[in-house]
Amino acid sequence: MRTPFVAGNWKMYKTVAEARHLISELVPGLQSIAGVQKVICPPFTDLLAAAALLEGTDIGLGAQNLFWEPSGAYTGEISPLMLAELCQYVIIGHSERRQYFGETDETVNRKVQAALSHGLTPIVCVGETLEEYEANVTADVVSRQIHEGLAGLSLGEDQVNMPLIIAYEPVWAIGTGRAATADGANAVVADIIRTALADLFGDEAAQAIRVLYGGSVKPENAREFFQQPDIDGALVGGASLKADQFIAIVQAAVP
Ligand code: 13P
Repeated sequence: MRTPFVAGNWKMYKTVAEARHLISELVPGLQSIAGVQKVICPPFTDLLAAAALLEGTDIGLGAQNLFWEPSGAYTGEISPLMLAELCQYVIIGHSERRQYFGETDETVNRKVQAALSHGLTPIVCVGETLEEYEANVTADVVSRQIHEGLAGLSLGEDQVNMPLIIAYEPVWAIGTGRAATADGANAVVADIIRTALADLFGDEAAQAIRVLYGGSVKPENAREFFQQPDIDGALVGGASLKADQFIAIVQAAVP
């Protein structure tokens, strides 16, 4: 019912030359995998080259952030209008942006609205920190991130191709090698994220929106996550920088 979706978040890695090299390694392997939507999200500076290299392939392209205004005197920022020329997706509200760059549920909301209004599909990241996890407040935190980050959105009429993807990334699992358990992550997605999505958009939409898991996904553990009924794919960090590993993770998502 929901097509599996695997995205690579390259974070602040890969110069243009390095990106060209990695994409040339990725394309042949990824192209031959059907039944999974695959997307790479390199740094802004790689997008133009990446878009050219991916033309004519079935591999999507995404950015890692945007500003909400379409244009203006905002030195250093990149607008949804600019991104829409180059890519189809944009990651919004990653925990590293929340931690280091002052992103809040309110700025996430403005960015999501801006992305949607320019035809970009947002990949909205939510997840609790280690302190929140240990204090047992995951449900409150993740539910608030969904309700406030996605408040007031209109997703349109098409309930099949929902232009919104959620990534559940527990902060304590990112880059640590300590992934969540597959059934633990599935429980958060099923009981907290889809419930909050149903409050906002109704049951049908809540079942149609893809929800990914992110945090130390590797070829060795990917299948366990993908076998969970409410997890529809992955947002992959470190392992998306190695062609063989990313291809193996995408392969594991084939239904
Ligand atoms: P790692 O896969 O490196 O843990 O990163 C996950 C992540 O932050 C993806 O957005």
